[in-house]
Amino acid sequence: MPGLREELEVDLCVVNGENAADGLGITPRLAEVILASGADVITLGNHTFRRPEIAPYLDESDRVIRPANLSNNASGKGLALAESRGGTPVAVINLLGQLFLAPPHGPWELVDDLVEEARRSTPVILVDFHGEATSEKVAMAAYLDGKVTAVLGTHTHVQTNDARVTPGGTAALTDAGMTGPHDSVIGVISELAIKHMRTGMPTRFKTASGGVRLEGCLVECGEDGRATSCELVRRALEL
Ligand SMILES: [Fe+2]
Repeated sequence: MPGLREELEVDLCVVNGENAADGLGITPRLAEVILASGADVITLGNHTFRRPEIAPYLDESDRVIRPANLSNNASGKGLALAESRGGTPVAVINLLGQLFLAPPHGPWELVDDLVEEARRSTPVILVDFHGEATSEKVAMAAYLDGKVTAVLGTHTHVQTNDARVTPGGTAALTDAGMTGPHDSVIGVISELAIKHMRTGMPTRFKTASGGVRLEGCLVECGEDGRATSCELVRRALEL
């Protein structure tokens, strides 16, 4: 990541880290490793608390956030304020989609207040919309057109080919993809995933190892928060 940050002249880097702990959740140690490698903010998702030791860490952290629409009683927060390399403040909002994921609160109920809160600090706002359904992610990008800098989807592990800047100046991508082993069924050893689907039998999933690739998205914007470009990033990694 440090080399990629230099190559792409990245001022701020956000990583969705919810699968960092062997596919499910994240630990404090792994969060620290990702931050040390060059991430400014880590977002999470439906697997936030799979490793419960992350809960007290989230309460203390300003840089690792979880979806804002989890339980009101859950540890952590859903909005982070970071400083880009050039000194411009950047707000990052993390929300969970409601289709197929059934969060305690709908993202549409909270998003206006979160954007308003972020706007009090900066016009540069990135929303990580962690969702299963393309329709919901496209709808959120359309709803936030001109209100935020970027609406980037995560969760499906499959990078979509719809990177765009919407008419109001919002970068949008339905899914940023997966950094991990792509010779797999979204990260799981293919034979195990297929066996589970074919037989319906409980199957212990194991993380695959081949075809490791970094995937993401590069957004350019002005200090006014308007996006000017949105491009896919894809790199094969030698491990
Ligand atoms: Fe997820």
